[in-house]
Amino acid sequence: MNAEPSSPGAGRLVTIFGGAGYIGPIVAKRLLRQGYRVRIVDMFLYGTQNVLLGLFDEPGLEVLNGDEGKSDVLDRALEGATDVVILAGLVGDPITKKYPEAHQAVNEDGIAGIIDALDGRGLKRAIFVSTCSNYGLIPEGTLADEGFELNPLSLYAKAKVGMEKKLLGLEGKVDFEGVALRFATAFGLAPRMRFDLTVSQFTREMYLKNDLLVYDPDTWRPYCHVQDFAEVIQRVLEASADKVAFDVFNAGGDANNFTKRMIVEAIQKHIPDAPVDYQEHGSDPRNYRVDFSKIRERLGFTPRYTVEDGIRELIRALDQDLFADVDARTNFYGNYEIDYPAK
Ligand SMILES: NC(=O)c1ccc[n+]([C@@H]2O[C@H](COP(=O)([O-])OP(=O)(O)OC[C@H]3O[C@@H](n4cnc5c(N)ncnc54)[C@H](O)[C@@H]3O)[C@@H](O)[C@H]2O)c1
Repeated sequence: MNAEPSSPGAGRLVTIFGGAGYIGPIVAKRLLRQGYRVRIVDMFLYGTQNVLLGLFDEPGLEVLNGDEGKSDVLDRALEGATDVVILAGLVGDPITKKYPEAHQAVNEDGIAGIIDALDGRGLKRAIFVSTCSNYGLIPEGTLADEGFELNPLSLYAKAKVGMEKKLLGLEGKVDFEGVALRFATAFGLAPRMRFDLTVSQFTREMYLKNDLLVYDPDTWRPYCHVQDFAEVIQRVLEASADKVAFDVFNAGGDANNFTKRMIVEAIQKHIPDAPVDYQEHGSDPRNYRVDFSKIRERLGFTPRYTVEDGIRELIRALDQDLFADVDARTNFYGNYEIDYPAK
């Protein structure tokens, strides 16, 4: 079935690297519904291939099982594509620390390989999804806008900073437009939930009345719902070049800058008797509040979902036993273990 010629995605084929993780299937579904064709390229590091089954009734979906680091996979991934979204990666500090060699292969060499392969293919836009973790630790009382000095504290964020620079440094040298998006930390329901991310982790632990120990409760971070990220990607694909080409945007909304304590308090409104303890000087010193005015003013983007919405939504799903299998399938629901390169 072809898209209506008037639909925003008509005539466009978006290749999404890393499209079978937490955020990818939500982005893919939104784009498919807007008439885009979508090619998901993923090597299913966490055994998440089945999450794509829910997309198969949407016309225009293709799936390519392969490693972004292989040149034949890249050629097939990019054939006929009009746009690229790079979500693939070893995502998060713990998994990159645990597998430094895979981190080098995937987050450094693999992403660099994708970026190097983009020129000369007639692509319109290439979106690299980076992270607000690039800001690391910022002085109390300040807000990081896109011009704020980057202070990546982990291997994960250091690679993101390097790849942003590489992509944005191509201005004037390539035939496509690069854009970098620094995503806030994700929350929200998705076929592959990640319970290793703060809002979802805290909500589930408190729901189960497990003892929750919260380190550095007064550290700030921005959060954003996966559905809102999908909207951001669509807006960037459809914006005029003068608004986005070779530019970087924080992706999220000012209202969703939260401390960990604020998240706990928001959950306590629903689950007042959950046992929570606080402790200072944990192993993760990140503390950053982020300014999202650029994406709001330039692209008209403000998130529809608040952190409180995400908590309510997840509690509803937990009430209906949708996540009764989390302990039995740890690695499906979080980035803990990989086999890379596959043996
Ligand atoms: N989840 C968040 O809170 C968050 C916050 C900021 C930025 N981001 C960025 O958004 C993107 C998506 O995050 P996510 O939470 O969906 O991550 P995820 O770990 O759920 O998904 C990543 C996907 O990439 C795939 N992948 C990894 N290496 C690959 C390779 N070599 N070839 C092909 N596929 C490969 C994995 O199999 C996985 O399906 C990442 O780039 C991440 O850095 C996420």
